[in-house]
Amino acid sequence: MKRIAIFASGSGSNAEKIAEYFADNTAVEITLIVSNNPKAGVIERARRGFGRRLHIPVLLFDRSTFYDTNRITQLLLNQNIDLIVLAGFMWLMPGDLVRAFPNKIVNIHPALLPKFGGKGMYGHYVHEAVVAAGETESGITIHYVNERYDEGQTIFQANCPVSPTDTPEDVAHKVQILEHLHYPRVIEEVLMQDE
Ligand code: GRF
Repeated sequence: MKRIAIFASGSGSNAEKIAEYFADNTAVEITLIVSNNPKAGVIERARRGFGRRLHIPVLLFDRSTFYDTNRITQLLLNQNIDLIVLAGFMWLMPGDLVRAFPNKIVNIHPALLPKFGGKGMYGHYVHEAVVAAGETESGITIHYVNERYDEGQTIFQANCPVSPTDTPEDVAHKVQILEHLHYPRVIEEVLMQDE
């Protein structure tokens, strides 16, 4: 049995797709949802069982617990988590957590890294920057996580066209379709790799 912890700070649409994808897989369990934001939509989605009557506990923590203690790292180690999946998680991973889970933390970024990554490049800022730069394509990057924003090794990319009339919202929509389509499947591949 492989155990996944999903970290999310926002709406949680990716967390929901991942939970749905593995709902009937007896070899993979979403053990825990972890969030820093008590108002995150992901918490309400978890409360509703992600539309599949799943009972996945939610762990909420604050900044000082995350950065000034190793409580979260210890808890994830105690729960024998095999893979940490960041799905719209807004805080940088602390060093002790990255070192405790080498090549076991993955993230999805809503652009084609190394372009449009780094600090401040999240959510709508990414798609606004893509449109402002006159890009003809955007997409997703799924990558391993280290202690710097968006710099870990790339695992998978997929792209979508951006037309000159596209608004940032149009790009966001196309990118979200790619995220929901690919992230669960790529997570499964990463999990099976270290069999
Ligand atoms: C996604 O666009 C993801 O790429 C980014 O944050 C967003 C999360 O969306 N890292 P949601 O909360 O899963 O709906």
